[in-house]
Amino acid sequence: MTDIKELLLSRIRDVADYPEPGVMFKDITPLLADPAAFTALTDALAGIAERTGATKVVGLEARGFILAAPVAVRAGLGFIPVRKAGKLPGATLSQAYDLEYGSAEIEVHAEDLCGDDRVLVIDDVLATGGTAEASLQLIRRAGAEVAGLAVLMELGFLGGRARLEPALAGAPLEALLTV
Ligand code: PRP
Ligand code: MG
Repeated sequence: MTDIKELLLSRIRDVADYPEPGVMFKDITPLLADPAAFTALTDALAGIAERTGATKVVGLEARGFILAAPVAVRAGLGFIPVRKAGKLPGATLSQAYDLEYGSAEIEVHAEDLCGDDRVLVIDDVLATGGTAEASLQLIRRAGAEVAGLAVLMELGFLGGRARLEPALAGAPLEALLTV
């Protein structure tokens, strides 16, 4: 394992049975509180933004915001929030997706993305892939191109990568850590 992977992994705390019994929650707050680790993470993600030729960075509410905003600044790109439904005041595009129980909806301001944009989506965790898939659909519906999806951590056993193949349509999925 590389030094940066070891550093990042060492700052992620496993919390058993949260938010419900049987779930191992990956708590990134120790990483955020460590400036060396948070800077290393930001630099790694900004490198992906540069390599993929992104023109904008999308962060997925809520934890994706924390990671994506400094990446946008570091890479010199605009930051676009994809929010949970009902939080954006302007004209939005909405995308519903299924959860284990029930469904959820995310939105983006339609005017924030246009046909010239190449968008890198950033989130903390890729689990089932439902959230990321909906965000990629939103970006395409806004007329923009998907430059890629970058996550701090991929939970490989949940199969999100395979689920995302059609929505990525050849764009890269980069996970700094796979657990
Ligand atoms: C979590 C996580 C990812 C998503 C991954 O967000 O931050 O965004 O779940 O799950 P999936 O791949 O199965 O869609 P969540 O909405 O639970 O919480 P948050 O608002 O704290 O980011
Ligand atoms: Mg989230």
